[in-house]
Amino acid sequence: MAVDQLSVIQAEAELARLAGALAAANRAYHTEDAPEISDAAYDALKRRNAEIEKRFPDLKRADSPSEQVGSAVSDGFGKVRHAVRMLSLENAFDDKEVAEFDQRIRRFLGLSDDAPLGYTAEPKIDGLSLSLRYENGRLVQAATRGDGEVGENVTANALTIKDIPQTLTGAPAILEVRGEVYMSHADFAALNARQDASGGKTFANPRNAAAGSLRQLDAEITRARPLRFFAYAWGEVSEPLAPTQKGAIDRLANLGFQTNPLTQRFEDIEGLARHYRDIETRRASLGYDIDGVVYKVDDLRLQERLGFRSTTPRWAIAHKFPAELAWTVLEAIDIQVGRTGALSPVARLRPITVGGVVVSNATLHNEDYIAGRDSNGGPIREGRDIRVGDWVQVYRAGDVIPKIKDVDLARRPAEARPYAFPQTCPECGSVAMREPGDAVHRCIGGLICPAQAVEKLKHFVSRGAFDIEGLGAKQIEMFFADDLLPIREPADIFTLAARDRANLSKLANRDGFGERSAKKLFAAIEDRRKIPLAKLLFALGIRHLGETSSAMIATHYETWPAFEAAMTAARVGEGPEWDDLIGIDGVGSVMAASLVTTMQQEAERASIDWLVAQLDVQESRCVVAENSPVAGKTIVFTGTLKKMSRAEAKARAEALGAKVAGSVSAKTDLLVAGPGAGSKTKKAEELGIETINEDHWLSLIGGA
Ligand code: IVH
Repeated sequence: MAVDQLSVIQAEAELARLAGALAAANRAYHTEDAPEISDAAYDALKRRNAEIEKRFPDLKRADSPSEQVGSAVSDGFGKVRHAVRMLSLENAFDDKEVAEFDQRIRRFLGLSDDAPLGYTAEPKIDGLSLSLRYENGRLVQAATRGDGEVGENVTANALTIKDIPQTLTGAPAILEVRGEVYMSHADFAALNARQDASGGKTFANPRNAAAGSLRQLDAEITRARPLRFFAYAWGEVSEPLAPTQKGAIDRLANLGFQTNPLTQRFEDIEGLARHYRDIETRRASLGYDIDGVVYKVDDLRLQERLGFRSTTPRWAIAHKFPAELAWTVLEAIDIQVGRTGALSPVARLRPITVGGVVVSNATLHNEDYIAGRDSNGGPIREGRDIRVGDWVQVYRAGDVIPKIKDVDLARRPAEARPYAFPQTCPECGSVAMREPGDAVHRCIGGLICPAQAVEKLKHFVSRGAFDIEGLGAKQIEMFFADDLLPIREPADIFTLAARDRANLSKLANRDGFGERSAKKLFAAIEDRRKIPLAKLLFALGIRHLGETSSAMIATHYETWPAFEAAMTAARVGEGPEWDDLIGIDGVGSVMAASLVTTMQQEAERASIDWLVAQLDVQESRCVVAENSPVAGKTIVFTGTLKKMSRAEAKARAEALGAKVAGSVSAKTDLLVAGPGAGSKTKKAEELGIETINEDHWLSLIGGA
């Protein structure tokens, strides 16, 4: 109906309807990443809303959609760079792994087996982590973990959570409190009942409910959801909270945070084991989900010395509860081809609930695993093989892909036959080779195999790699299959906008895309043209090359031209470039060979060069304290160190911006030699490299 023909009552009703429809569309688009209406339809609703408001200004609603075009809505949540990274935890699955954790720490710190070493133990809450930043006692920002470095700004939502104090008295001027947002069992059940009654979406478990409730663009929805918060850690602090972990947690409790009442200090790992069993027996009656017990070194000076690996602290571990198990029928075995050509058998299962989550797929690892053999030919499951039609026992441990533990031979159907592993790639028909000593069949199709190409692209855009907003696995599959505007190799992503401009079939006219979303995608791609070398290396998806080693390699070569020149000149197994490459910490000969062969394979290399031509690759230089005497230096440790373990020496050198190499070469700047040093000292002498002893080293870096 034309706007000027509307009655006041009709206009009011229509404004209410439009506000609802636009809010739903925003939610679907921004929060659920699942647009329900086209951009054109969205724009039409907005226009209609604006016209009615113009004609009936008095009817303009408090929640008028015309007031909600701000960036907070159109861009989803803002991004927050964490002042101190938010880390995850290493896992232990039994007492032996906990004992190894304790041993590792003692070795690192140079402590004997019977030296005192206290730990705290507390439940591992199954929710999602949140960082709360207080400045001068006021909550100024709340951020989700995100990728650990950059999270989402959820301040408005956090302000609605009752367990989160908005002001603090007597706190350090800067204090970042970290902890877990979770939902209790009772609140979860009530929420699902309400959602069910109102025809809304129900949640699979309390953690999903907590995550879904916190990540709401409309903070009023969060307010209506009963979220809770336990504080268990901190990020940036302007002054230390206490000398110990337990002391710091008590201090947080005094400041008004909820801390877990089962947090205790123990003098040895036997105490930890007792507390673990105790918490395990109480697990069902706690009223909220936990999935293990976290142990942390209590003395904060020791925590500081122990420091971090790339994503986890050395001073903490999560002792997980045993995986949950369930029996179901194996309906089929499918083969998936990964980005490196590996053929992975996937079990398609009759859906079954395992630990609150419906499972319908599980990994079967490889040919031997299905046949009931381990990699050395010894039996697993006492040699029982797995066949389609079998009853199999499924388990989930943490977030990992479900696995199959056992098979019930008594229930095996008479017609079940041993599984014959395919000898060719199901995607491209190339031979699937299994090399001696390798458990995996690999498609030799390389770039001609569409499955490998798609998986490579998915990896390329994933988190930790290019992480392009709006270009996820789903969109990659769509573009890969597109004939007019295809993405078949990484470089195509960066020529997409230019090809779109030259094309008659515009992206903005496609299903699922409109003017707005196409523009947004092009902008997100543009945003990533500038990329750090480490991320580029990881994104290439080279076999054996992970995120941490990519970072190490990037810091070693610093620039793409330097890396490229070295890889072009290197020969596998010999020569100075090879020695230099395997001298990088964490780079073994298998990884090195994979890098060199990939970079020298003609087709691969052409594709990589074409990609790099589209990019602005950023140098990888360590950002370190300016007064570091060893920043940028390459250091080699040899012989016995007395004051600290080799691991600690290395960690400290790296924290000061040095590179630590395993062997002496012309690139070495400094050799730190303890007693018992041999050939390395000689080589350093020949090359004229400065050699110092441990005490000299300590005074150089500023004491023990
Ligand atoms: S400490 C630097 N303590 O588990 C260490 N984490 O799997 C920071 N979590 O990302 C974590 N309960 O979200 C710590 N009592 C607890 C925890 C806990 C749950 C979560 C946290 C972390 C994840 C790692």
